[in-house]
Amino acid sequence: MDRTTELLVLLHHGLDQLAPGLPESTLRAWSLCAPLPADPRVLDLGCGTGAQALVLAGRCGADVTAVDLAPALLATVRARAEAAGLADRVRTVEADLRALPFPDGAFDVIWSEGAIYLAGFDAGLKGWRRLLRPGGFIVVTELSWLVADPPTEAVDFWAAGYPAMRTVDGNVAAAERLGFRVVDVFTLPDAGWWAYYGPLRERLAPFLVQHPEDSDAVAVVEETSREIGCYERHGAAYGYVFYVLQG
Ligand SMILES: C[S@@+](CC[C@H](N)C(=O)[O-])C[C@H]1O[C@@H](n2cnc3c(N)ncnc32)[C@H](O)[C@@H]1O
Repeated sequence: MDRTTELLVLLHHGLDQLAPGLPESTLRAWSLCAPLPADPRVLDLGCGTGAQALVLAGRCGADVTAVDLAPALLATVRARAEAAGLADRVRTVEADLRALPFPDGAFDVIWSEGAIYLAGFDAGLKGWRRLLRPGGFIVVTELSWLVADPPTEAVDFWAAGYPAMRTVDGNVAAAERLGFRVVDVFTLPDAGWWAYYGPLRERLAPFLVQHPEDSDAVAVVEETSREIGCYERHGAAYGYVFYVLQG
């Protein structure tokens, strides 16, 4: 792990969610995945601290396999599941979402909020498809342009941060090209961004105090502030979009 990633991990340590998201939006996407068998088998990829795994197991009755590369995050997921009385419904697996160790057709639903970008939207969908039973669902959130002509500041920021970012139409076309039926597409509400950015922003000043004279920590804080500021000014131009797909 490089120093910047290490600092980002520290900055995010203990947050309940590691990306924009809202339980209400997770539930809305879940309601679109029908029909499903009783006790549906759900694979949550890039689960972080379990924000979605806990909702899927606790409120949707899913049997969740939560995958992440970071053992410390998986330990947090297990502790939160235990505390919520969901230990028997959430199991954790340390694995790379680009090379998953599960048999074909093992899941009814594959879920991934704020993490498919790590594989790439098309490569993720392509690689994960074999894990889905025929007619199963894939739900992902992906940072997407919402307007045809976004402001220059946002374009420049994301050209550096996420050059592969496409429009909603571009992602829908890609999913269809890969043979998925697009069940629905909807944008995460603004509140879902602030559920993540709010607590993160509160940590920035104390983080600098905890890392005195550390130019890497300053750079991480500045970049995070820039990201939040960009969303504050231009959040109407881009968003986290839910893509609910059927295989
Ligand atoms: C932006 S966070 C989203 C976490 C969670 N879904 C949420 O909304 O809070 C992305 C997660 O993917 C994990 N991750 C990064 N690279 C990964 C990989 N190659 N395979 C599996 N997980 C990975 C990170 O540890 C992190 O927990």
